[in-house]
Parts: sequence; C-alpha cells; structure tokens
Amino acid sequence: MSTMASQGEIVVGLDIGTTKVCAVVGEIAEDGITILGVGSVPCRGLRKGIVSNIDWTVRSIKDAIEAAQTMAGVEIRTVYAGVAGSHIRSQSSDGVAAINGGEVTRADVERVLEGARAIPVDADRQILHVLPREYIVDIQDGIRDPIGMSGVRLGAKVNLVTAATSCVQNVIRCAERCGLVVADVVLEALASSEAILSDDEREIGAAVVDIGGGTTDIVLYVDGGIAHASVIPVGGNNITNDIAAGLRTPMAEADRLKRLYGCALGRMVADDEEIEVPGVGGQKPRRTPRRVLSDIIEPRVEEIFAVVRKRIEDTGMLEQLSAGVVLTGGAVLLEGTTELAEEVLGMPVRIGFPTGVRGITQLVHGPQYAAGVGLVKYGAQAIADAHARAAAPAQSMMRMTAAAAKKGVVEEEPALVSPKSQSKFWEWLKAAF
Ligand SMILES: Nc1ncnc2c1ncn2[C@@H]1O[C@H](COP(=O)(O)OP(=O)(O)OP(=O)(O)O)[C@@H](O)[C@H]1O
Ligand SMILES: [Mg+2]
Repeated sequence: MSTMASQGEIVVGLDIGTTKVCAVVGEIAEDGITILGVGSVPCRGLRKGIVSNIDWTVRSIKDAIEAAQTMAGVEIRTVYAGVAGSHIRSQSSDGVAAINGGEVTRADVERVLEGARAIPVDADRQILHVLPREYIVDIQDGIRDPIGMSGVRLGAKVNLVTAATSCVQNVIRCAERCGLVVADVVLEALASSEAILSDDEREIGAAVVDIGGGTTDIVLYVDGGIAHASVIPVGGNNITNDIAAGLRTPMAEADRLKRLYGCALGRMVADDEEIEVPGVGGQKPRRTPRRVLSDIIEPRVEEIFAVVRKRIEDTGMLEQLSAGVVLTGGAVLLEGTTELAEEVLGMPVRIGFPTGVRGITQLVHGPQYAAGVGLVKYGAQAIADAHARAAAPAQSMMRMTAAAAKKGVVEEEPALVSPKSQSKFWEWLKAAF
C-alpha cells in the first residue's frame, strides 16, 4: 500500500459468504492496519455466493456486526461489502486522453479510466471495477504509475469487472436493512488477493483461487495487474453433499467428517485407518475405512481444479503465471488439497493466509478470513486514494505556479490558498494565453 489514510480511521470489511458472514474491523494508521475486532457467524441466506434469502442474510449480518462491534469497542456505520457469484464477468477495454499541461496528473488518469469504462454494458449489469493493467504515455507502454510523466497522450489498458445489478443491489439492501452504509461493493476474490498475494507474485504472474463453501473465485495477475476475474459455482459444500450422499450421513456430520478426517488425495491415507460414521434416521453409527471417505472427496476436488485449469487455459494466460497458484478460502484447509492442486494444475501451489495486518491477527489467521481482511485493506486503500485526490488539485496548481515562476511571473502567495491568490492565478492565465 502506497499511502495510508489518517490516524485512527476505522474501516470495516463485510464478507457475506455462502456459509458465514464475517465482519472485520481495522484501524488505519500511517504505518499500517490494526485488526481491532472480528465477528463471524454462520449464514444460510446465500446460494452459490448469491443472496437467496434476505431475512436470513440480514440476521447473520446483524449478529456478525454486533460481535465485531463489541470486540472492537467501536460503533460500525460504514462497511466495504464483498460480492461473488457466477454472474461476475471480466473483459478488457482501453481508453485514451490528452495530457493537460504536458505532465500526467491524477485528473488525467481519472479521465482516461472514465473513457475506458465507457463501453456498452447489458441493462441488467453494472461495472464493479475498472482495473488498470498498464498505461501508455505517447509511445512508451508498460507503465504502472504514469503520474508525473511528461507527454501529450495518455492511454490505458484496463480490465472491467461486471456483475448482475440485482445481485449487487441485494447485498447492499441486506447491509442497509442492518442500518449500515455500504461505502463500496468489492469483488470477493479481489479482496482476498489484497490479503494474501505478495507484490512479487503479482509482478511475475499468479492465480488466486478462493474456494469457499459455494463458489470458487479466480483472479489472474499478469505483469502486476489483474488480467482476468471469474467465479465458478462450486465449492466445499459440494464435497460435503457428496460425503452425505456417499456415506448416508446427515449434512452436519458429513461436514464434520470432512474437516476431521477428509483427504483430497487417497494415496495419502493408510489402508488400515478407520472412521466412525453416524447414521441417518436413528440408524447406528458404523465403522468405515478412512480411504472410503477420501475416495468420495478426491474426484470432486479433482473436478474443481480441472474446471479451474480449463478456465485459466481459456484465457490464454497459463504460461504467464510464473509464480503459480495461491489457494485460499475455507475449503482449501482439506488435507491433501495443495498436493492434488499441483498435480491437476501443473503449477506450484501454496495456501494463502491473510498477511500485512497486526492486532488480534490470530482471529483472522486462516484462509477463510482472506476476503474479510482483504476488504479492510481495500477500504484502507480507497480512503488513502480519496485523501490523495482531495490534495491533488492543490498540488497541480502548485506545479503550475512553479511553471509560472520559471517564466518570470512573481507569485507572492502559493496558489489556491486564498481567493485573492486564485484570482491572481487566473489573471496570469488570461495574460499568458
Ligand atoms: N478444516 C477444514 N477442512 C475442510 N474443509 C473445511 C475446513 N474448514 C472449513 N472448510 C470448508 O470451507 C467451506 C467454507 O469456506 P469459506 O468460509 O471460505 O466459505 P464462504 O466464504 O462462506 O463461502 P463462499 O466464499 O463460497 O461464498 C465449507 O465448505 C467448509 O466445509
Ligand atoms: Mg468466501
């Protein structure tokens, strides 16, 4: 993160997932983010990442916010909310703008990004993010941060992430029914990436794959920028369903067995290991080889990674992901997942835990908290950007007065500090042009 917001500012991430709602409270200071409180409660109001029952979702959000509020000792009013679901799509676009004053300013960058987002989008969809991949100043391409560079023409290549408006609105509605203001709605996987990916990985190319309960979210980073984002509607709950059906046991027991004894790679399980499987409808529990459990799990996990691989191959960027794959989300806690992922994806794989925050980090130390922590980091960056934007006009005026000084115009006071100096500046402008 380049610049941080002012001391003591509170940022709250609200991760509304298929299995849980998680609210993370962070305090921003000059030197980083401190986690002050976390509230995580089960949620049954979503199906495959999309709100399907407003009342249940609202109840879970209220509980999560209340828990986080109590722990942090602050009142939560505003949140950065996550959104996922297979309605998410991404596409590339570009924009071009003239550089006013010969030197790229923040306003020029905003104009070129505004141009890049001016593409036709279906009436029932909205643009969620405009993610710059590279800037081009005159003939020089591959620029990450063009502000301050000299030139006459600024171009931008971006990735646009779009979402179904109704799905985004339902997330906002649920939060508002809890008395919250939604500062921004953020793609969950983008938030997760904020929490787990290193700058080096972004630079040399990496895939972030967040496998939650209902969705598998993919984001590809190439040359430091986001080149693709999409969501596959499968996750850990599909594994649980398979176990419940295969071992004829209740869903809650299937989930417990998966967490305690599950393994994604059958050959990692010894032949003589046994587990006790509770029966349904009052039937007696029975002992079953643990290998039977992994034989149910393995094909499903293999299928998820095969779909992920196909999705990455279809983008044509497989070869550009030199840093490999970073897995996150609760479902990747399943034993043997990394090993199986490496086999299917044919790339180095690691599990991403949230990093780059301090405070009560033990409460968010798990891949299932990557999105919640990432939303706080995203919010902190958004606030820092807003502060920088607010300061930008004054800075650009100062630059122009410096140019004026070079031309021999004497300024008694710095521009923009008073209406008097402002009128002086306009006088000079009129005289000069
Ligand atoms: N130790 C574990 N071993 C195996 N699976 C686990 C473990 N812990 C959690 N899970 C699985 O992780 C999934 C929940 O992950 P997570 O909390 O990231 O999902 P979510 O954010 O609620 O859902 P989504 O992101 O899909 O909307 C569930 O399927 C759960 O069974
Ligand atoms: Mg999630």
